[in-house]
Amino acid sequence: MPPAFTIAEVPASRGGDHDHPVSFEARTPDGRLVGTVLARRAPMAIAYFEALEQGMQPVDYADELDRVAFLDHVEVAESERRHAVATALLAAIEPVLVGRGVRVLFGGIGRGADSVPTAAFFERRGFQVLQTGQRLPGFFGRRWTLPHTAEPHNWVFARLPRK
Ligand SMILES: CC(C)(COP(=O)(O)OP(=O)(O)OC[C@H]1O[C@@H](n2cnc3c(N)ncnc32)[C@H](O)[C@@H]1OP(=O)(O)O)[C@@H](O)C(=O)NCCC(=O)NCCS
Repeated sequence: MPPAFTIAEVPASRGGDHDHPVSFEARTPDGRLVGTVLARRAPMAIAYFEALEQGMQPVDYADELDRVAFLDHVEVAESERRHAVATALLAAIEPVLVGRGVRVLFGGIGRGADSVPTAAFFERRGFQVLQTGQRLPGFFGRRWTLPHTAEPHNWVFARLPRK
């Protein structure tokens, strides 16, 4: 049976100059949008470039800035859930991130979200789901969120293979 949806890369609809976003969407054969995924640079990496632009001398992240990426969102229309749409979206975006040299992908389960099924999804996809209130650990000896980054219900992260 052919898949009930197709996955395609699309220009990311939000983000500033340094966000370096990548986005995919899933549509039914008749063109109905059923899911999207968007990843971009980590908040700390974006702040690094903005600080440079403003003539500041931020802590040097050297070549590490793109070793970590932020999963801004992955969302599937309620009527289409449990049909592997989000699985296909992540399977599409991860190789693009790996191609950029990303080794860790992290995101947050929103406070408004139904966190139990979402956590089940991320676990199934090989992400580590942190306890509520647990802070995102450092990766490669660095922090990747900013002091004012909103704390989600749960941080999640996955290690990606080397390119
Ligand atoms: C989380 C979300 C993206 C999952 O999308 P999906 O297309 O339904 O996920 P998949 O069908 O690819 O699920 C893959 C596996 O994850 C697990 N899973 C997904 N949804 C689940 C649920 N509601 N309860 C339990 N396990 C679930 C299952 O193991 C599932 O495999 P199975 O259906 O063979 O059992 C979707 O529920 C959603 O859009 N939620 C609201 C937005 C959100 O919270 N996004 C994440 C934070 S940005």
